[in-house]
Amino acid sequence: PRILILGAPGAGKGTQSAKITAEFDVDHVTTGDALRANKDMDISDMDTEYDTPRAYMEQGELVPDEVVNAIVDEALSQASGFVLDGYPRNLEQAEELEGMTNLDIVLYLDVSEEELINRLTGRRLDPETDEIYHLEYNPPEDPEVEERLVQRDDDTEETVKERLRVFRENTEPVIDYYEEQGDLERVDGEQAPDEVWEDVQATIEDAS
Ligand code: AP5
Ligand code: ZN
Repeated sequence: PRILILGAPGAGKGTQSAKITAEFDVDHVTTGDALRANKDMDISDMDTEYDTPRAYMEQGELVPDEVVNAIVDEALSQASGFVLDGYPRNLEQAEELEGMTNLDIVLYLDVSEEELINRLTGRRLDPETDEIYHLEYNPPEDPEVEERLVQRDDDTEETVKERLRVFRENTEPVIDYYEEQGDLERVDGEQAPDEVWEDVQATIEDAS
């Protein structure tokens, strides 16, 4: 299936996408990971304010559409089934996506702002496996893993606030847009990860 997973920063898009790719035959297409892997690529020929994605990401701002659209277009052209995570983040990107592919399922992970802040400030990543952990909600069992955990550069309190502001301003209209089209499958993202997964899995199976 061609799945779009929408949600605020920290809603659990990456966590649920990993479960989806383990269960269904789909690629994980994620603009956040793609941009983090190419933070210092030269985008100065694109008439953008900054010369690399890094400057935007560290401040919690959106990387220019031209850069992100090209990443998604390329990744989707190579995937038959996918779970798309982190895109579209504004109405212009949503329109662009319509020209690239048709979606089978649009999921929205609904989580309150207070919970989002707890999740983002407590998140840690394993740099060796890219596994997503949380100091309180999902700590690693292996003490060796615990020792090597790192925090994402944009998970500081100040940047988290800006990311949430950008979400409200730019991405909430995208959610309304899919809702108006009658395509939106709302999942209660505030439940424990396995309960969220049960709902996500059932929604995908019902739609397939
Ligand atoms: P991106 O990487 O997409 O970040 P984001 O949207 O802010 O989302 P996160 O990755 O922070 O959260 P998530 O929903 O994946 O949550 P996770 O599963 O990790 O984008 C980063 C930046 O790149 C942007 O700010 C922008 O600069 C740029 N960018 C990306 N896409 C772009 C685009 N399209 N256009 C322009 N710029 C773009 O979970 C979070 C934490 O919660 C973890 O610790 C996890 O263990 C825990 N957790 C997860 N689920 C649960 C649960 N059910 N209960 C308890 N804890 C849970
Ligand atoms: Zn993510």
